[in-house]
Amino acid sequence: MSYDFPSLTDEEKRIFQGEEGIVKQKCMQYLVEMCQISGADRLVDLDGTGDMHTPGLALSQFYQITLDELRDFADNGGRFAIPTFANKSPFGEQPPIHGWESCNICGQKNPEWRQDDPAFHEKAMHEDEFAVLRKMGMMTTHSCANYLTMSYLPSVGQHCSWFESSQMPYCNATLGARTNFDGTLATCLLGKAPYYDMHITENRWGTILVEVDRKIKTDLEWDVYGFTVGEAVDVEVPIVTGTARPTTTQYQKFNSAMSTGGAVRMYHLPGITPEAPTIEFAAGGRKLTKTIKIDDSALRRNYDILNFHTSNDVDMVYLGCPHLNIVDLMKLAGKLDGKKVKIPLWIMTAPWLYPQAKALGYIDIFEKAGAHLMSGACLAAMGAVPDGVRSIAVDTAKQAYYITGCYPDENDPLQVCYGSSDDCIDAAITGKWRGEWR
Ligand code: F3S
Repeated sequence: MSYDFPSLTDEEKRIFQGEEGIVKQKCMQYLVEMCQISGADRLVDLDGTGDMHTPGLALSQFYQITLDELRDFADNGGRFAIPTFANKSPFGEQPPIHGWESCNICGQKNPEWRQDDPAFHEKAMHEDEFAVLRKMGMMTTHSCANYLTMSYLPSVGQHCSWFESSQMPYCNATLGARTNFDGTLATCLLGKAPYYDMHITENRWGTILVEVDRKIKTDLEWDVYGFTVGEAVDVEVPIVTGTARPTTTQYQKFNSAMSTGGAVRMYHLPGITPEAPTIEFAAGGRKLTKTIKIDDSALRRNYDILNFHTSNDVDMVYLGCPHLNIVDLMKLAGKLDGKKVKIPLWIMTAPWLYPQAKALGYIDIFEKAGAHLMSGACLAAMGAVPDGVRSIAVDTAKQAYYITGCYPDENDPLQVCYGSSDDCIDAAITGKWRGEWR
């Protein structure tokens, strides 16, 4: 490949030409191509953190790094340039890290493999491959909500390279750090990313004001509001009003729901998020020309779309999209203590929180109640529901939206009951859905 890219530094040109080895060369060539596609005129040096996503070693159709090349790189001292976390396995299968023994569903890629088969789990864990990445410094957190466990968050203005729907707005809006949707082996290994969109101050300013009829306070309201805002603003940067101060759980739901209804990578909550002390400041001093008003009928309409079912019988309840934080687990344990579920209740968290949940006695409570804690995966990512499940209850817009695609039978679609986590717990105990938009 020839290059015509005058804004590469001398060091970047050397890497591009292969003077620092094949792995770095492929990464740099890939990033140059990403610059050309995105219109970025240079790379930015990352001073924050990386969150590497699949497809991992295959950067694109044209830039594939083999495991042997990577092993050689690691053996010769090659390391990630920035603190790097892995939100998923780059090696294909997405098995739960904990709790896989009870995960009686078939693998997405190979329907003959069951997730609860020890042989499948051993194969899917790719310990040899992960050893190479860990040697390079990767922290294999396996969570789409890595910010819950990183214990090393970027500060305001730091340039990062993250991925995942709830993470990107968490980085940009909640933390005030800067990322595009580009956490890959190339960005994390080189510590560089194409300089465009959310890395540039002006692109982060709010472009559209969003107002809502009711005060957004409950977890379910944040979730439905997020989906509705995302649908309404698409790729704009909304300045979102009408809310109370969000909890971490509400940030998780709002962020993932906005990226499900639309493609929101940055937003402002005036008086709350770091770059929005006021509406005027969030807009960068520019006059806002667009306002979207969301009334209760729009919230209800989206609730009804997500709450798709024709019968109130529920076969299974699934909580943990995005992965539950430790306070969610503590509250769930409190609600399930002394209760018994009638249908399977699966709870998903981040692998680094699983041992804490065990130490705090929550797993004991879940097991006595008949519920099942797992970590490091999700039903949508595994691409299936357990055999026989035709109706599932969930408490987030993102899982409600994507889980239907895991059962793509148009004539007999998966029934989804969508509501608050209390509605879901009630369904787990009774086998019936009684949730509604309130
Ligand atoms: Fe995470 Fe899966 Fe939800 S990747 S955000 S738990 S759809």
